[in-house]
Amino acid sequence: MARDLFEAARDAMAKCHAPYSKFPVGAAIRDDAGKIHAGANIEVISFPEGWCAETTAISHMVMAGGSRIREVAVIAEKLELCPPCGGCRQRLAEFADADTLIHLCDADGIRKTLRMDELLPYAFETGAIG
Ligand code: THU
Repeated sequence: MARDLFEAARDAMAKCHAPYSKFPVGAAIRDDAGKIHAGANIEVISFPEGWCAETTAISHMVMAGGSRIREVAVIAEKLELCPPCGGCRQRLAEFADADTLIHLCDADGIRKTLRMDELLPYAFETGAIG
């Protein structure tokens, strides 16, 4: 059950650049073509300038030509489950659908699965821009 996605998130976590928080996070996205895109958190000495693992993974998906997110796995070394932060929920929602699955993982695998519309109910949408 999405073992490949979990493994991609776990392996990405090992590549984090988190010297300030010492809080490694990994994320992996399966796009609508079935391709996996992974990412880790990357911190900067000017602390607010760093970004999350989910954001790195989204960037990889977009730059590889992926368009929609079908499934996501997130793992943090020092937290039993790591639900994406508020900003990342909005970023994921940009490319996800209501039924996109978000898997929260620990070191052994997927522990909890949520739908995008459970993770971010009442998402900000204008329906008017663009
Ligand atoms: N972090 C993520 O990578 N994803 C989240 O959803 C929550 C927080 C990172 C940001 C920062 O590098 C570290 O975790 C501590 O907040």
